[in-house]
Amino acid sequence: AELREESAARPILLPRGLKVWLVTRYDEARLALADPRLSKDFAGFLPLFERHQTGTREATRFDNSLVQHMLNSDPPTHTRLRKLVMKAFTPRRVEQLRPRIQQITDDLLDAVADRGETDLVEALAFPLPITVICEMLGIPLDDRDDFREWSNTLVAGNDPDAVEAAGTAMAGFLSTLVDTLRAHPGDDIFSALIHATDENDRLDQTELISMAFLLLVAGHETTVNLIATGVLNLLRHPEQLDKLRADRTLLPGAVEEFLRYEGPVNQATFRFTTEEVTLGDVTIPEGEFVLASLMSANRDERRFADGESFDITRAAGGHLAFGHGIHYCLGAPLARLEGEIAVGTLLDRYDIALTAEPETLRWRSSTLMRGLYTLPVSLS
Ligand code: HEM
Repeated sequence: AELREESAARPILLPRGLKVWLVTRYDEARLALADPRLSKDFAGFLPLFERHQTGTREATRFDNSLVQHMLNSDPPTHTRLRKLVMKAFTPRRVEQLRPRIQQITDDLLDAVADRGETDLVEALAFPLPITVICEMLGIPLDDRDDFREWSNTLVAGNDPDAVEAAGTAMAGFLSTLVDTLRAHPGDDIFSALIHATDENDRLDQTELISMAFLLLVAGHETTVNLIATGVLNLLRHPEQLDKLRADRTLLPGAVEEFLRYEGPVNQATFRFTTEEVTLGDVTIPEGEFVLASLMSANRDERRFADGESFDITRAAGGHLAFGHGIHYCLGAPLARLEGEIAVGTLLDRYDIALTAEPETLRWRSSTLMRGLYTLPVSLS
């Protein structure tokens, strides 16, 4: 809120010493996310990392076979990659998954029915999205503990050695998966990509692995937090929980408010300027990193009245939790549906109470993402 008052954007140092321009106001963040002069091309990032990395801290080494995906590219590459999987994520196609998502949710909640106290992250918020995305992609769930750990390490990005090891392990795992699905295709998105018959729809091995990596990580690192942080905010605001219990038609709007008020992606939206760009009262030179703070933009009073308060009946539409422009979240319909089914079913079946003081809850150590390690609750 303080930064928003000062200006639309200003240079800051991220914890690892990287200089970026942080955009904190809604209008300018929205413009920055959709401005074609702000690039996401990974090849362009590398030299800039060196230029803007201050101090002596070692830069993170990332496995190259994981980074050639749509979120790291500009048109026309972005257009080609996104088009290949777009159809599987439209609201209509995703709606067809409703019975399966409901069934997974019911099974997960059956498993904790007699337990009373439980960690909601472990019981529901994590296993639901990971099961859904693995089934969609054809990834065996048996290995989920391994890739959960690699994925967490890569997203946190704190320790360069750990990031390198996790990246190599993840790339190896996905490469073996490509070989398996090449020999034994299933009825899943990944098999369809591997066996594409049209020349234009073919991806090379690196693009395949990067695509699987992006969908796998984006598909579960975020939705887990939509569910867990959303439930936490309901529990911290009992009057809102009562409203939702009394009128279940409020659920879709409540999910939008979860996303606006405390969404899973805080500011993981790197871009760099390919020419000088003016955002509101600030002019950013060419060759600088720009990071839109979605969380700050979503609380900007200029756009959302009383933006710092949690109100499931407000019109939260237009929030930037899923980004904006050509990189707008491909998985938004899926995330919304999972969020609604998870929270709706939980409320149908249980009275829920938090069993820890909110101040003692541990948040994941990432400046870019926002999520809880655990959410201890009692279910009765
Ligand atoms: C892109 C947020 C769930 C797949 C994005 C972006 C945001 C975002 C902010 C844009 C980043 C930028 O412009 O720099 C979220 C949130 C989710 C969620 C808050 C959950 C609540 C999912 C799910 C999938 C997914 C379930 C499923 C596969 C993607 C993909 C992109 C993306 C593929 C890149 C799109 C592109 O570059 O064109 N997401 N996401 N996300 N998301 Fe999500």
